[in-house]
Formats: sequence, structure tokens, C-alpha cells
Amino acid sequence: MKDILFVIFGSTGDLTSRKLLPAIIKLYKNNEISKNITVLALGRRDLDTHGYIDYIEAQMNNKLDRKILDDIVMYHNIQITERDGYDKLKMVIDGYKGEKTKELFYLAIAPEMFAHVADHIHTAHIVEQGNPMQAIIFEKPFGNDLQSAKAVNKLLWTYFDESQIYRIDHYLGKEMIQNILMVRFANRIFEETWHNRTIKSIKIIAKEADGILSRAGYYDQSGALKDMVQSHLLQMLSLTAMDTPLSYHSQDITDEKVNVLKHLSFDRDAMIFGQYEGYLNEANINAMSTTDTFVFLKVFVNTPRFKGVPFYLMTGKKLDKKESVIIVEFEETTEQRKWHLPLSTNKLLIKIAPEDGFGLQLNSKVPGLSNDVRDVELEYCVACNAYGNIPEAYEKLLLDIINGHKTLFTRWDEIEYSWAFIDALKAVKPALFIYRDYDELKSMIKEKVGEDMI
Ligand code: BG6
Repeated sequence: MKDILFVIFGSTGDLTSRKLLPAIIKLYKNNEISKNITVLALGRRDLDTHGYIDYIEAQMNNKLDRKILDDIVMYHNIQITERDGYDKLKMVIDGYKGEKTKELFYLAIAPEMFAHVADHIHTAHIVEQGNPMQAIIFEKPFGNDLQSAKAVNKLLWTYFDESQIYRIDHYLGKEMIQNILMVRFANRIFEETWHNRTIKSIKIIAKEADGILSRAGYYDQSGALKDMVQSHLLQMLSLTAMDTPLSYHSQDITDEKVNVLKHLSFDRDAMIFGQYEGYLNEANINAMSTTDTFVFLKVFVNTPRFKGVPFYLMTGKKLDKKESVIIVEFEETTEQRKWHLPLSTNKLLIKIAPEDGFGLQLNSKVPGLSNDVRDVELEYCVACNAYGNIPEAYEKLLLDIINGHKTLFTRWDEIEYSWAFIDALKAVKPALFIYRDYDELKSMIKEKVGEDMI
């Protein structure tokens, strides 16, 4: 009998080879999980386990440990949308499980298939509603708008209890996103100043240098607003803007995050939706596509803590570089205003990618005889100071699922309110701007809101 049975629906996809198997192997090697684990990879392709592992290896740049894959992975061929194969699948699963087996069912599949799989695993008695040893894991997109998200959720609740459902937003597994609350609430200098009397603006940025890679089918239906803002950027925003939770239990933290999402508004005149030049020539993209690959928004969080403070949200593909960061800019001091010197404002940078860490920009006298001032940055780099490897987001998330910890997963009402906001934005989406490079977008932003983006 296995301690852990990890069943992956859609195991020949990109997510399994790029994220899930590497994460499992790392946890296994580092003794973070029991070695008594089986990964049951399900797929339509007619392969045996050996052939499946060859197939997965061929997709990867960094080869995984073949010996471990041979030891823990089993491939099972099934048409996951057809009910027929599920009784046999139940027999296979039953062969691995005992009373103490923790079972993870990971749906690494397109959302159109959720309904079929959820229904079949329920009617074949593979997953029982409320069984605490069983977890169902979903990836975004959770629907395409509020209405479809509600439909997906209704379906999930028909078959499973909320306590069994894990909705993944992989940004929540990133080291510095987990650190936002710590930086805010465990440091007096920030805890005391985290409000509209001292904070001037907050920028939430996720830039990418890559285009859409080989994800045309998904991306052209989605676009940057739904792909990045609805999930990752609104999660970063809610952690940054939330009020002090009653406790640090997941329910209380999520309640405060939801309160932020309930109080969002945006400046209609300050939105930019862009598409990179050449997008229409990408393979499998509709030649008339109006999908956005870039979004800039000026958002307000209308809570007493943050009323009036602009939050600038920006994300896009084919920009100057890969960089995700939150920049908290503080107001000038009264003295600073009096001096009329070209002083910078203080900024706290929460750096999420490519390096994790934070920076604090301060004004300081230039060393020497003059009285000139310049801005300096105090820096903390996580990777430079950590022992061993920094875990990848998926390692942390999978480990939390195995241990039943829910803080880093999105609750239904977070998704509900974020879709309501996205739907409101979509309804007034301006015409697309076709951009050649990031500098063009930066100038547009400067013109519209007077802000310099990094
Ligand atoms: C995914 C999006 O959720 O996040 C992708 O679907 C995007 O389009 C990716 O590239 C970015 O994640 P990361 O971890 O590389 O910043």
C-alpha cells in the first residue's frame, strides 16, 4: 500500500513535464515526502510506462532523474472523457491504496474536460465527497468569466466538498509572495506606514520577454487580462492591500483578501490594452484576433486603509525582460518638500522574479565634502542567503496539498470577486494598441498617468 498516490489527468501535457514531475522528484530526493509514492500518469496516448517516460524526457530541457521516474511513475492509458475506462481505473487505483493512502487527483486538463472527469470519478466511486484523504486539484482558468466560473464551481460542489478542492494559482507558491505578509506585518516600520497617509502609489508588475510559446490554442481565448490579471496580479494586489487579519489562519487571511477584491474600482481613462506586433503571425492564431498580450490598469482599493492610492497593474508578453515585482512608493517627507532638492521618494521593492528578495530605496548623502544627496538601495537577496535550493512554487504547493494546508490556494469567493472585476473591465476595454517594443508602452503610460514604469 502506498503512502501517497498522485494521479495526473492529462499527464502528457506541458505542465506535467515542466512543473509537476520535476517538483515531485525534488521533494522525493530531498526527503520532503514519503518514498512510498506512486505517480499514476493518465493519458490518451497508447504508451507503456517506459514509453511514457521516454516521451516526457524528450519534452524536457533539464533531464530528470530517470531512476526515480522508473521507480515511481506508472502510466495508464485511458480516454478521460469517456466513462468506459473508469471502472478499470478504479481497480488500478484500488491496487495501490490502503486506509492511510493520501490520494491526490490533479486535473492538468483543459477546463472543458473538468465536467466529464469530475462526473466520472464520482460515479465510478474513485473520489468520495468529503473524504479527507482525497484532494482534487485544479489549475486556472476557472472559467472564462463570472458566469462560466460559477458554473464550474457549482459542478465541483456537486461532487466534492470545498475542503477537498485545491485551486492552484502558482504565484502563491512563490517565495516572495509568501513573504508579503511577513514583510508587512512583522516589521514595525511597514506595519505602521502601510496606508494611504504614507503610501503614494503601488505598482504590481509582471513582465515577460517571451511571446505565447506553443500555447496559441489556450492563449488566444484568454489574453493577458484573463491569463495574468484575473489570477496572479489580483492575488498580489489583495495580499498587498488587505487589512490585518484576525489571525493567520487561512480563513481569516482569505476573508481579508476577499474584502480587497470587493472594493476595487478602476480609472477608465487610464487603461491600455496592447498586442505585440507579430502576434497575428504566430502559429494557430486567428488572423483577426483581438486578444490582448499587454494590459496596464490604474486601480483603486476603496477601503479606509487605501482609499485614494493608485495601484498600477501591468503585465505583458514580448516586453524588455522577465521581471515580476511589487513597488511600494512612499510619500515625500515634509522636509523634503521644503528643501526643493531633487530627492527620490522611498520605495520598497518586493522582488518576485527572476531574483527573489527585497530592496529598500532611501535618500543618502553622497560621501565626501559636498552636501549632495542620492538614492541608495538596501538589498536582500533570498537565493544568496538561503541554505540549499529555494523550492520552486510547485514544490511548496504540492507539499501543502499532501499536508492538507490550504493558505496558498484560492477560495471560491476570491475567484468570484476577481471575475466580477475582470468582467467590468472587459465591458469597457479600449481599442488594442499594437506595440513593437516596451519603450513605446512606457511612453504611453508616462503620458497617461505620469508614472515611470521600470
Ligand atoms: C501562467 C500564465 O499562469 O503564468 C503564463 O498562464 C505565464 O502565460 C506564467 O507565462 C508566468 O508565470 P511565471 O512563474 O513564469 O512568472
